[in-house]
Amino acid sequence: MSEKFIPLTDYRQREQTLTVPDRLIEPDGQLKDSLHRPLHDLRISVTDRCNFRCVYCMPKEVFDKNYRFLPQTSLLSFEEITRVARIFVAHGVKKIRLTGGEPLLRKNIEKLIEMLTKLKASDGSDIDLTLTTNGSLLARKAQGLRDAGLSRVTVSLDSMNDATFKQMNDVDFPVSDVLDGIDAAHRAGLGPIKVNMVVKAGLNDSEIIPMARYFKATPHILRFIEYMDVGASNGWKLNEVIPSAKVIQILNDAGLSLLPTQANYAGETAERWRYLDGNGEVGVISSVTQTFCHECSRARLSTEGKLYTCLFATHGHDLRSLLRDEHHLHSDLAISNVIAQLWKKRSDRYSELRSQQTEELIKSRKKIEMSYIGG
Ligand code: GTP
Ligand code: 5AD
Ligand code: SF4
Ligand code: SF4
Repeated sequence: MSEKFIPLTDYRQREQTLTVPDRLIEPDGQLKDSLHRPLHDLRISVTDRCNFRCVYCMPKEVFDKNYRFLPQTSLLSFEEITRVARIFVAHGVKKIRLTGGEPLLRKNIEKLIEMLTKLKASDGSDIDLTLTTNGSLLARKAQGLRDAGLSRVTVSLDSMNDATFKQMNDVDFPVSDVLDGIDAAHRAGLGPIKVNMVVKAGLNDSEIIPMARYFKATPHILRFIEYMDVGASNGWKLNEVIPSAKVIQILNDAGLSLLPTQANYAGETAERWRYLDGNGEVGVISSVTQTFCHECSRARLSTEGKLYTCLFATHGHDLRSLLRDEHHLHSDLAISNVIAQLWKKRSDRYSELRSQQTEELIKSRKKIEMSYIGG
């Protein structure tokens, strides 16, 4: 029997009022928060809906037919998203990731991609424009996404075994269709493709080796993700987390020997390991056992235009109210200064602080859902 986890309050409604500073300053692409962390990465959620019901993200018991997803009028339009993104880019953002829910469910997403690819980073370089998807619509959409200007994709896949995968996505979706999506993305040139596997003890830890073996023989990079206490509905327990160190040990014991290797860039979520035989690499994302808050340069924009400065934030900042102000009082520079003010104050480091808390305190924190804010 599965347990039911029902959130008592809708935490999407919690927000803080924004004020525009009196003296407006032009952005210089060098914005830093209170812990000296730059703003390099913007994650934009384009829909809070998903066609999967992954047990660790959108459990069916909560996200059922009575769940109130955001109405169409709440969603930021493509013009609004592009406007906000342009302002972020002027502050130093170099990478934009489109997320969801499932971002490929958003109608005409290719149009948004076309609009975003026109943005240039503050140093004149192209933006790294990427997207996280469950892969279900990728076989159909990959070429169109590439034609629109998308650089690459990250695909979520939790198992090579159909029964386990179906148990995890909870909508009877087969592995083969995701693999077809990955192949199509590869053919379309949306690489290097990263494959994200959330590892939950007792559910798919037996899939660590089969997943590694399968992807070792491909150009794709598999990443093992520690199951996180994100949101309020997945009923997270610490003993369901498989520490990344254990994953590496399991692979080594199976003859898939690995050596640690250098990060691609500062603040990378994944720790990289390469196979001793020289064929390929894997990543581990250890947001529970080896936190990476000290270099976190990620801002998140929700589907309805709220800015979150941490994945585990309890409050968002309603940028949409500035974008949709009926008197058009807020220039790009005014909004830019509001964002600068928020980022300069930012002191979030939830994952680092989590280890000092009891499981009860962790559970009682009023966190937003991952399907609302994106991965
Ligand atoms: P690359 O651009 O390919 O390096 O991607 P990435 O590793 O930055 O992003 P991705 O969206 O693939 O992140 C993978 C997973 O890491 C997510 O699904 C989350 O589980 C986790 N993650 C990403 N960002 C954060 C973060 O800021 N904090 C925490 N705690 N976990 C994160
Ligand atoms: N723990 C870790 N990662 C999660 N994701 C969603 N929920 C969780 C969780 N509880 C991530 C997965 C998925 C992406 C969309 O969000 O990486 O691939
Ligand atoms: Fe959908 Fe991704 Fe969440 Fe699964 S993890 S329910 S695919 S948003
Ligand atoms: Fe960044 Fe918050 Fe994740 Fe830490 S917990 S890495 S501050 S998003």
